[in-house]
Amino acid sequence: MTSLVVESVASTTKRQRIATHTHIKGLGLDEEGNAAPMGAGWVGQEQAREACGLIVDMIKQKKMAGRALLIAGAPGTGKTALALGVAQELGSKARVQLLLWSRI
Ligand SMILES: Nc1ncnc2c1ncn2[C@@H]1O[C@H](COP(=O)(O)OP(=O)(O)OP(=O)(O)O)[C@@H](O)[C@H]1O
Ligand SMILES: [Mg+2]
Repeated sequence: MTSLVVESVASTTKRQRIATHTHIKGLGLDEEGNAAPMGAGWVGQEQAREACGLIVDMIKQKKMAGRALLIAGAPGTGKTALALGVAQELGSKARVQLLLWSRI
């Protein structure tokens, strides 16, 4: 009897990772702009979240016009999640351009 071997073959086309961010609810900062180790869907990245909080404040004070925010980091470290957190903190009326750069 002939046996049938089933193998999976990896695609040769570019792989794309789809990340969900539904757990991210803002930047998880307190009134003074400090980040707790866990909060608003975040685990860690306190310094990055606090830095983004400063940017949110500057945008609200209209001090970021004509400037760019560059979020750099290795893949999967939360750049897009940070950008989403900033957008959520600003609300739907803010118009901001964010440039995301992924460094391998
Ligand atoms: N510190 C964190 N706390 C909670 N969730 C996180 C954290 N960092 C990343 N994530 C989640 O991990 C996943 C990957 O993060 P994200 O897509 O933001 O990374 P990225 O730096 O933008 O990656 P890439 O370089 O591939 O664009 C997402 O689902 C994101 O919400
Ligand atoms: Mg990203």
